[in-house]
Amino acid sequence: MSSNIKTSPTIFVIFGGTGDLASRKLAPALYNLFLDGWMPSQFSIIGTGRTPLSDEQFRENLLNDINQFSRSGKAVAEKWAEFSQNIYYQVSDIKNADTYKEFGKRIDKHNADWKTKANVIYYLAVSPNFFPIIASNISKAKLADDPKTTRIVIEKPFGHDLATAKELNKLLSGIFDECQIYRIDHYLGKETVQNIMAFRFANSILEPIWNRNYIEHVQISVTEQLGVEERGDYYDGAGALRDMIQNHLLQLLCFVAMETPISFNADEVRNRKVDVLRAMRRFTPEDVRLSAVRGQYGKGWMQGKEVPGYREEPKVNPDSNTETFAAIKFFVDNWRWHGVPFYMRTGKRMHQSASVISIQFKDVPHFVFPASATESWQQNRLVISIQPEMSIRLQVQAKRPGLDMVLNTVDMVFDYKGTYDNQAPEAYETLLLDTMLGDQTLFMRGDQVEEAWELLMPILETWESKKSLNFPNYSADSWGPEIAEALIARDGYHWFSLPSNNKKK
Ligand code: BG6
Repeated sequence: MSSNIKTSPTIFVIFGGTGDLASRKLAPALYNLFLDGWMPSQFSIIGTGRTPLSDEQFRENLLNDINQFSRSGKAVAEKWAEFSQNIYYQVSDIKNADTYKEFGKRIDKHNADWKTKANVIYYLAVSPNFFPIIASNISKAKLADDPKTTRIVIEKPFGHDLATAKELNKLLSGIFDECQIYRIDHYLGKETVQNIMAFRFANSILEPIWNRNYIEHVQISVTEQLGVEERGDYYDGAGALRDMIQNHLLQLLCFVAMETPISFNADEVRNRKVDVLRAMRRFTPEDVRLSAVRGQYGKGWMQGKEVPGYREEPKVNPDSNTETFAAIKFFVDNWRWHGVPFYMRTGKRMHQSASVISIQFKDVPHFVFPASATESWQQNRLVISIQPEMSIRLQVQAKRPGLDMVLNTVDMVFDYKGTYDNQAPEAYETLLLDTMLGDQTLFMRGDQVEEAWELLMPILETWESKKSLNFPNYSADSWGPEIAEALIARDGYHWFSLPSNNKKK
């Protein structure tokens, strides 16, 4: 542990303790926090679910998960023995008041044994339709009365549209204070995403050029090679707009476009981000037609393997109108960004997996060099690679060595791997640590979530009311539908190729 920050005694109650998120993300993250010395000396992890399991069986399951999914590799025997004695399991029926009485008893027992009042974090790693019942029952059992020590973590999706997000916010705010509610967007926990703030606000050279006077346009691409896999039942009711743009990609845009916060404090940062969402231009139905493009993948070949089209995936409606790709042009209507387009695209079964933000600067005002010197001319570009490559590169023109004057583009690179020896923590480690520390900076506030939904509602409504006639319109292992190229080409630009020195999936 490299800092003086200390966590207080904490009890995690994980609803959905036997589910996929707990296995793949939460258990490895908690274990790695333990290995790195971030867990308090007194902590307890209570997994809960419908399946009856003993503590021992649950521990065994988590050990397998950690061995399979932890970034630090297989668990080390002594460390695991130490860690796992803090893990318990309680079978539960989330609708039944007795379940919550049981939690109450366990919490009281820990507090008595530890002679303290521990923080209690209720982690809802369950399907969103269970959020209301669990939250209400926690409240009825008086398990969250103390806003200082009790917190609730809500996974995405937060609502299905603006109305349902408002409803959920209303329900939660009737039970908890906003300071107790931790709405997860795991992109905010990614090391490279947090670094956008460090890069922008800890370097004085950027601020003067970070505006419409110097920046021509911005591209945000989050592309995935994976298809929907086993998640068809969820995804078919969601689509790319809800699954990725409403949360992850809009959050990336906020980090690029936000004003400088007065301090690095949760409300300051979140106020500046919500300002961006509020300034984003709303779409008329005509704008939706011109500025938003959707796609759905058909079958094809990926890395030598034949893969099914979206409509042939398990638990997907064979006639589905759900988009697996979306590209949208946004504007942020404020002084800083007036007239600067922000292009966004995301899709599944794309040629490459990469999350990249490219900031394209305006061209030089006057060409000094002859045309023969500038054949491979490119405007300055700042490329922030979030994954799989983790780097920031500034692309500039330089003279190629030789007796003649020939310019080409070179990269000035900050690369995580080359710069640091230590492994970057997983997003969930950062976010779980922040829930223990009571730091909400990297969590979504209720108003942010609602603004993001409000912005997208015209697109959602238009797409839902008008079935796409040409789905599937891109094949697996491509860059999405041709109309996505047209969207950006109309403005005289093209989608930039993405850095790919190592493949993620
Ligand atoms: C999730 C989406 O929130 O993010 C998935 O539901 C998507 O559909 C995933 O695959 C991408 O996350 P990451 O961290 O792999 O980029």
